[in-house]
Amino acid sequence: MSGKSIVLENVELSLGRGAARVHILKGVSLGVDRGEAIGLVGPSGSGKSTLLMTMAGLERPDSGRVTIEGEELTAMDEDALARFRGRRIGIVFQSFHLVPTMTALENVALPLELAGKGDAFDRASAELRAVGLGERLAHYPAQLSGGEQQRVAIARALAPDPAILVADEPTGNLDETTGGSIVDLLFALKRERGATLVLVTHDTGLATACDRTIRLRSGRIEADADAAAA
Ligand SMILES: Nc1ncnc2c1ncn2[C@@H]1O[C@H](COP(=O)(O)OP(=O)(O)O)[C@@H](O)[C@H]1O
Ligand SMILES: [Mg+2]
Repeated sequence: MSGKSIVLENVELSLGRGAARVHILKGVSLGVDRGEAIGLVGPSGSGKSTLLMTMAGLERPDSGRVTIEGEELTAMDEDALARFRGRRIGIVFQSFHLVPTMTALENVALPLELAGKGDAFDRASAELRAVGLGERLAHYPAQLSGGEQQRVAIARALAPDPAILVADEPTGNLDETTGGSIVDLLFALKRERGATLVLVTHDTGLATACDRTIRLRSGRIEADADAAAA
């Protein structure tokens, strides 16, 4: 198992209560190498977001095992899991999820402060420069364009230097040109940092930019192939 960044073994997951309970992930097993870029595709409702959140330790499977960078998430208690997420996993959402009452700089510094880093603001400032926002440190999210907000979210996700970066349709709220530059940025930063990337996308062009494409259908892996062959 060494060298694997992400390993899922027979993951089963249901969400919701009572009659609304839905069996979402049905025996999902997969392995992702360190530094690999995976495109996660499939119809709406097939379980892509749920699978991504399971890899990120934000959803806990009913059964099966999730191991990230050799550490078994499914064996951790909530505190250990939260600490692991803060240090090792970066998450980017379609709708940015920035704190509206905080500046760009404060948004990026927040996870670093929570992780007890003494130089949180210096690092946050460097991360914002790395995504081309050195001139926007004191701006609030509402004062930034969608593409700029997503850059802040990417800077925030990468600031703790995570081993894996997961992104759920990161270009879904952006026009094509802006989305394209966000994707270029994600791939450039991923290469620079040697991080593993898992990207949920509807965009087949984007999926083929990944090393491998995994296709979900009704909570099961339907296909798993080199992106060039998919
Ligand atoms: N909290 C929840 N409670 C009940 N059902 C849910 C919940 N979250 C997602 N689902 C259902 O699980 C299925 C998969 O959802 P999701 O992972 O968001 O799919 P995708 O990202 O591929 O569109 C959908 O049918 C969705 O309605
Ligand atoms: Mg989704």
